[in-house]
Amino acid sequence: MILPALAALLALAPYADAHSWVEQLTVIAPNGTFVGIPGYARGNYLRTTAGFSDTSMTYLLPPSTRANTTLLLPSDKLCKDTQQDQTQSDGSPRLQASAGAAIALRYQENGHVTLPQNQPGKPKNRGTVYVYGTTQPKVGEKLLDVHGAWTADGTGGDGRGVLLSTQNFDDGRCYQINSGEISETRQQKYPHQASQLTGADLWCQQDIQLPTTIPSGKLYTLYWVWDWPTAPGADPTYPQGKTEIYTTCMDVDVQNTAADRQKVDDIYATGQDLNKAAIPSEFDHLSAQQIPVESQAATSASPTSTSAAGPKEKATVTAWHTVGKTVTVTQDATVTVDAGQSGETS
Ligand SMILES: *[C@@H]1O[C@H](CO)[C@@H](O)[C@H](O)[C@H]1NC(C)=O
Ligand SMILES: *[C@@H]1O[C@H](CO)[C@@H](O)[C@H](O)[C@H]1NC(C)=O
Repeated sequence: MILPALAALLALAPYADAHSWVEQLTVIAPNGTFVGIPGYARGNYLRTTAGFSDTSMTYLLPPSTRANTTLLLPSDKLCKDTQQDQTQSDGSPRLQASAGAAIALRYQENGHVTLPQNQPGKPKNRGTVYVYGTTQPKVGEKLLDVHGAWTADGTGGDGRGVLLSTQNFDDGRCYQINSGEISETRQQKYPHQASQLTGADLWCQQDIQLPTTIPSGKLYTLYWVWDWPTAPGADPTYPQGKTEIYTTCMDVDVQNTAADRQKVDDIYATGQDLNKAAIPSEFDHLSAQQIPVESQAATSASPTSTSAAGPKEKATVTAWHTVGKTVTVTQDATVTVDAGQSGETS
């Protein structure tokens, strides 16, 4: 017989050291439902791959070997070594999508949402997830050339790419099954049938829209950056605080020029199966966004001088979000919470 307290501990234990990456990309139909064949990151390892472990897919910056826990270097690569090239592994094809398509990037919360007590000093929104896009990726791409540099209008940094999306890591719904209060509340509020892929967990997602102007036949690169800092003084292990960033690098095979998606009157179907449904609050504002492809005149502008978000987005900020050099995208950070949600995200 297992004591209840021990059972609770056992339930929490597996999540302590697990981290997150984009496990799957899916096109979202205008009614908010996932459609078509899913795609995967560069050099993907499925969880069913022989020899798989979390470190097959996680990529941490700064590396844990760096003595200064808040220091990012200009030489730090944005993509994991196994994700430098635009190649796919067997059984993990690239997503195919039209220009202008809405796409869900899904990841597992691994307790970072439902067991916030496991890591002291982390932001209430469980960190911020950014997606940058470009038709001109580089092998050896540097984190700081992109993150905090590229902007929504395409004029930031070296002008090769754009900031497509800024969201809370906690999408307001996602959970893994554990006995924590957040998980138990969400299990009640967002029930779904266990699926072979996700089990009884509800994966997190970041819903983005591809630029409408990507030429057909091009690969479009997406850089997902999860910025999850520890505040100074909150965790005795990291008195100076800790910069903690994870990335996933992906490409999308753009197959058709979009009908102007801005004109599509998206109607999110209510009551749909949560295993394959977009997050309404994230999805709803996609259709109103104007997204440029990267600017032709790659004039380097100060990242502070541009607006990183569309007019509908709220300017809510994670207080002490800093990344090495000047990351002021926070002024435009999008914090969207489902209507009817409260208290779970900042
Ligand atoms: C660690 O890096 C940060 C960020 O660059 C810097 O401000 C700080 O002075 C560094 N700390 C030490 C002890 O070198
Ligand atoms: C949404 O649209 C897709 C594609 O047309 C369709 O397959 C799906 O059944 C629709 N979902 C709902 C909930 O109506």
